[in-house]
Amino acid sequence: MPKILVTGATGQIGSELTLALREKYGGDNVVALGHKKEPTKELKDSGPFEKGDATDKNFLESLIDQYQIDTIYHLVGILSAAGEENPDNAWLVNVNSLKHVLDLAKEKGLKQVFWPSSIAAFGLGSPRDNTPQATIMDPNTIYGITKISGELLCNYYYNKYRLDVRSLRYPGLISYVTPPGGGTTDYAIDIFYQALEHKTYTSFLREDTMLPMMYMPDAIKGTIDLMETPNSKIRTRLSYNFTALSFTPKEIADEIKKHIPDFVCQFVPDRRQNIADTWPRTIDDTPARRDWGWQHEYDLAKMTEDMLKHLRAKLKIK
Ligand code: SER
Repeated sequence: MPKILVTGATGQIGSELTLALREKYGGDNVVALGHKKEPTKELKDSGPFEKGDATDKNFLESLIDQYQIDTIYHLVGILSAAGEENPDNAWLVNVNSLKHVLDLAKEKGLKQVFWPSSIAAFGLGSPRDNTPQATIMDPNTIYGITKISGELLCNYYYNKYRLDVRSLRYPGLISYVTPPGGGTTDYAIDIFYQALEHKTYTSFLREDTMLPMMYMPDAIKGTIDLMETPNSKIRTRLSYNFTALSFTPKEIADEIKKHIPDFVCQFVPDRRQNIADTWPRTIDDTPARRDWGWQHEYDLAKMTEDMLKHLRAKLKIK
């Protein structure tokens, strides 16, 4: 069994991936590291939970030693819109902490590292439709710059030290577990809460802004599948393009309307529109599907139905 440390365990991906890893490898084998956000009862009760700063190398080293960690899912990160508010902090959290993790993994002979990249690593020079795995990457948000820098670092540690580091370029992730948290694609989460609670939502992106997206159960499955793939099949140590579906704010609003007919959505773009305008509309993830058999399950209709069902229960709305 791997002995896993998950940083950012109370975040968007961590909240669910930690539980899925515990289910698979046993609660005691998956140490969750959170910082400011309180863990859910489930996260706290299902295995070891530590609180602390994932940018502190000494602290990370003490956790690796204490729990004899051999695998790290380094998920801690500042998302795109939040990054623009404090670029220095985005660099510190997204890049410096990754460098610490890669150095510790190298020094201590860890088996595997996972690190999340993003569609934000692409930029205005990248083709926006069917964006290929390998193409021009010139992001102009600090978040995107941290992601392409991190990819290059991961690739460097693989080539120079043969560290088994793997990564995915996540699209916008949609989940009913964690509330929206500073991402440009997070409108596609908030819209569900507002539709159920107030029957109205004002999108901060234009109605025709198409972005790549994925429902969280697919993202969790894909992440674990990638990590379980034999090393020889992994053909990129930068990061794999990874997608499920693409839609616009109008398309998701129309889908929600099929379930909540009096839902009204307005579109009032703000500064986040400028970020979305530099990102791909659709992604070509053929290499992930070919190299390690990536397949998604949820389309827009199936995801919308499932989100509404779970959020109704969570918010106690009939
Ligand atoms: N979901 C992220 C964001 O919007 C993109 O990776 O910032």
